[in-house]
Amino acid sequence: MDIKICLIGKGNVGTSLIELLKEKSEILNEKFNLNIKMVAIVEYDGALINEDGINLEEVLSKGERFRELPYWKVDSKPTDLYKKLDINICVEATPTNPNTGEPALSHIMEALNNGINVVSSNKGPFYLKYQQIEDLAKNNNLIVKYEASVASVVPALSIADCLIGNQITRIKAILNGTCNYILSRMAAEGITFSKALKEAQELGIAETDPTLDIEGFDAAGKLVILANKLLGWRKTIKDVKIKGISKITPQTIELAKSDGLIIKHLAIVDEDELIVEPRLIERDSPLNISGTLNVMELQTKYAGPIVLMGRGAGGPEAASAILNDLINIVKKRG
Ligand code: HSE
Repeated sequence: MDIKICLIGKGNVGTSLIELLKEKSEILNEKFNLNIKMVAIVEYDGALINEDGINLEEVLSKGERFRELPYWKVDSKPTDLYKKLDINICVEATPTNPNTGEPALSHIMEALNNGINVVSSNKGPFYLKYQQIEDLAKNNNLIVKYEASVASVVPALSIADCLIGNQITRIKAILNGTCNYILSRMAAEGITFSKALKEAQELGIAETDPTLDIEGFDAAGKLVILANKLLGWRKTIKDVKIKGISKITPQTIELAKSDGLIIKHLAIVDEDELIVEPRLIERDSPLNISGTLNVMELQTKYAGPIVLMGRGAGGPEAASAILNDLINIVKKRG
């Protein structure tokens, strides 16, 4: 089966997806009889276009000079391409403005309005306009998936399908790798907040504007998506009580340590509240993870707690979550 996809955004995640599709094309063919053709790779100033499928190896070999390829069309916009190229799935992986969700929000809405299924690694559109996006997809009989937007490859959203016979009632999680890295480094090595933040930025996991991480907005956005998807809530980021970690000092961490406790930046769904704030946890808590990892403790009605943990950021990780979503859409559409 041929599936034509359009990738919007050739940054870290987009490039990792191109690499993954190139690497897995044979296996996808053998295992799922699936031939994923990338027919357009769209950037803010134009697009690479080939309706027979772009040569991914060639694009990768060009690196940042991909605009030199003969099939680069200046100023091509996604809306010009959807019908012309008969695209089945649009993959949205652009950098997003956290206040407006743009340009990802418009890309997603336009794709759905053009009868195209969507996979997104962007969280902004979903913590701002979750209901509108889900409604549009439903009304147009389309599928929108965004597993990579929360905890990347950790199946934070797909777990809903695995627990369909159960009921998730509460969530306690660590959803921001940057904050967890900073707190872990401060606790383990006694280094300052600013040094730990600098290290997190060097690791490439912090947002371009790191205040989104350290003031809790990134975790709050992901928490909204979790609450809506896993508990059926209809919240936006405005509904979250948010406190960051920028005021935590090495002294506070030492004080907690002397009581045998750890300070973690938790994201919590409890009763009817959404909270992101630093809290004390026990040393042997499953939430006591170190470094850039993410973790989620889901309280279920019929089976107690279920814990998911893993890498919540990174290009290859997000790309593999996107590929999961692509395969799942194809399976559902048969
Ligand atoms: N800045 C985010 C983090 C990246 O630190 O977790 C993944 O969304």
